[in-house]
Amino acid sequence: MAIHTVTIENDGSSYRCYDSQSLLEGMESLGKKGIPVGCRGGGCGVCKVQVVSGSYTKRVMSRAHISEAEEAQGCVLACRVRPTSAIALQVIGPMKKNVCRAVEPSDALSIST
Ligand code: FES
Repeated sequence: MAIHTVTIENDGSSYRCYDSQSLLEGMESLGKKGIPVGCRGGGCGVCKVQVVSGSYTKRVMSRAHISEAEEAQGCVLACRVRPTSAIALQVIGPMKKNVCRAVEPSDALSIST
């Protein structure tokens, strides 16, 4: 059983994840926060991340949450993916703001005066 480092680029935090665990399980087992946790079964899409570097194995993911084009760009559901090397990822799901608190241009545009 191997263990890999997973880095969450949104906030620069990292944690260690066994190759027998999903990226989400590894984070949760350490009591860490970072990737939003929902159904844990690929059904809600809240744990959506984009893998920036590293390799992984994945189980079938709902097209309602990950399109073919997104999957080709490394977008995955963290509860359906296990690391096979060190991983760097960005949280991109609907709960992204829970991780990344910086104001983004799209947020600034939505503020009315
Ligand atoms: S936690 Fe619901 S899809 Fe991953």
